[in-house]
Amino acid sequence: MTDVTIIGLGQMGLKLGELMLAAGKSVTLWNRSADKAPGLVAGGAQLASSPAAAIAASPVTLICVYDYAAADEILNAPGVPAALDGHLMINLGTGSPEDARNAEAHVTQHGGRYLDGAIQAAPSQMGQDDTPILISGPSAVFAEALPLLAILAGHPSHLGERIDAAAFMDLATLSYVYGAFGGFLHGARIAESVDISVATFGGIVEQISPSFGAFFKHEAAVIESGDFAITESPLRISIPAVERILRTSKTLGINTELPALVHSWLGKAGQAGLADQELAALIKILRAG
Ligand SMILES: NC(=O)c1ccc[n+]([C@@H]2O[C@H](COP(=O)([O-])OP(=O)(O)OC[C@H]3O[C@@H](n4cnc5c(N)ncnc54)[C@H](OP(=O)(O)O)[C@@H]3O)[C@@H](O)[C@H]2O)c1
Repeated sequence: MTDVTIIGLGQMGLKLGELMLAAGKSVTLWNRSADKAPGLVAGGAQLASSPAAAIAASPVTLICVYDYAAADEILNAPGVPAALDGHLMINLGTGSPEDARNAEAHVTQHGGRYLDGAIQAAPSQMGQDDTPILISGPSAVFAEALPLLAILAGHPSHLGERIDAAAFMDLATLSYVYGAFGGFLHGARIAESVDISVATFGGIVEQISPSFGAFFKHEAAVIESGDFAITESPLRISIPAVERILRTSKTLGINTELPALVHSWLGKAGQAGLADQELAALIKILRAG
């Protein structure tokens, strides 16, 4: 027996293996293409001949393959359903909430325990005290897995018993990232269209990002509290601010879709009488559909 099995030796799986070996864990590996394993085998890991043999070799398996369709193929490979009995399976690949529910149903139906995870970091950022890893599933199973997960991330976030919570949170944070990236690109278009350095703009974005992160955290607490009394930023100051962005973008002749969208939301908020509430009250417009 080994301490942990790792299935999937892509960029991320290889890193998981490296970290486990560096932490002194005994490791079993399986990958569809066996040629990815030599480095880890030279470091002491054992290569299993099949996914079923790999799962049987350790009490805990980390699976990190391209997507849940690939994971599903592995979880249905010959001998795997029987091998799951009594074992803990942690899926650290990226998938949808439905993927997480299906994977949990499959593993528990065959007598295994299951946690679903989402890694929100690049391989080189793994193993740090602040590496973001989201985990969902039963609390007792999370407690059992924590010593191994803590090797990958100092403080993995347990989002609760609901198995699809990590996948939903991954979507929520990616939604933030792509929304912010859209705003970043619009800002870059403003800068380049008037020959202001886009690189300088990028540096300023980096400088202001930590304080805006703190601001968004505050606005999240406002939304959760349901109390939209002004505490930081009145919605009314954002109405002319976005009007200025939209008007200037039109004058510059650049794409206006993004500021037009936010301008439309703020316009509805003004009409709904939300101007004298905290900016987070804009969520009431999105709640209306
Ligand atoms: N890399 C990142 O920055 C990063 C960050 C956060 C999350 N993730 C997530 O981590 C997971 C793995 O990412 P990665 O970067 O390691 O990807 P990758 O380098 O493309 O590796 C993909 C892995 O999946 C395996 N695979 C693909 N299709 C398969 C199938 N049908 N049957 C069996 N194995 C299959 C590959 O096996 P072969 O070697 O045989 O092709 C390989 O081990 C993904 O869900 C990704 O979204 C990655």
